[in-house]
Amino acid sequence: MPLETVLITGASAGIGEGLARLFAADGARLILVARSVDRLQHLAAELKSKHGVEHIVIPLDLGIAGAAKTLFDTLTQRNLKIDVLVNNAGFGHNDRFIEIPIAEQLEMVQLNVSTMLHLTHLILPQMIERREGAILNLGSTASFQPGPYSAVYYATKSFVLSFTESLWEEVREHNVTVTCLCPGPTRTEFGIRAKMDHNWNFVNASMSTESVCRIGYRAFRRRKRIVIPGILNRILTFSVRLAPRRFILRVIRHWQRPR
Ligand SMILES: NC(=O)c1ccc[n+]([C@@H]2O[C@H](COP(=O)([O-])OP(=O)(O)OC[C@H]3O[C@@H](n4cnc5c(N)ncnc54)[C@H](OP(=O)(O)O)[C@@H]3O)[C@@H](O)[C@H]2O)c1
Repeated sequence: MPLETVLITGASAGIGEGLARLFAADGARLILVARSVDRLQHLAAELKSKHGVEHIVIPLDLGIAGAAKTLFDTLTQRNLKIDVLVNNAGFGHNDRFIEIPIAEQLEMVQLNVSTMLHLTHLILPQMIERREGAILNLGSTASFQPGPYSAVYYATKSFVLSFTESLWEEVREHNVTVTCLCPGPTRTEFGIRAKMDHNWNFVNASMSTESVCRIGYRAFRRRKRIVIPGILNRILTFSVRLAPRRFILRVIRHWQRPR
């Protein structure tokens, strides 16, 4: 798999930053995208001093309509061809559906779903034409069942998994792979931002960012379709296939009860 130029959305923190460190250690040139320009520049400088490669920082809000096209136009102007696309930027929110402001929920759908698929639609044709490339999408263990009190977040992550698996089958004949990394609760800024950090699964079963990234990165390099880091997360996602849906809904509702 060529790693010359790797575009990572949401690279300023958490899983995106962790994956950036792994790609950089393997010699990739990174294109780092998020809103926090200071954090991106700091990461780019640190990785350059460690590995000697100049990285590119593109500060951009991907939660607004048209952001993917703006980003793609910037890449085209700079003549940047992408070997690996990491669609990582995303956020959640834990509360009753009617209590979460609609603007925030629509922004979540824009960032977690629309920008992700639009960017993929813009970049994938080049990969198919060159007959090489790979895409890593951030799903979640939330991809595998509905989630009361995080209804929209869980629905966006179901979309990511379904979309990724379909594309995986569509494009593998072109030597392009599309992988869905589906972490469970991971100790990043996500849980605090989403007001989920008090939830049973965050308190009792969260994994370190480093482990999630290491496991995800290794499976991605092996061109896996889906990767679920952690034995507990694998057991949970397997058991939701067997258990009655009503039971699963009740368990998730219990875990996700808002503060
Ligand atoms: N942590 C978990 O428990 C967990 C579990 C399963 C899946 N995931 C998924 O993993 C991905 C990364 O989450 P994380 O845990 O690393 O969260 P995080 O620590 O909060 O990082 C989120 C990243 O996304 C960026 N981002 C957020 N809104 C953005 C916007 N409007 N435009 C551009 N960039 C934006 C943030 O940067 P700026 O704020 O600088 O823009 C940051 O770099 C998400 O898709 C999430 O759904 C996380």
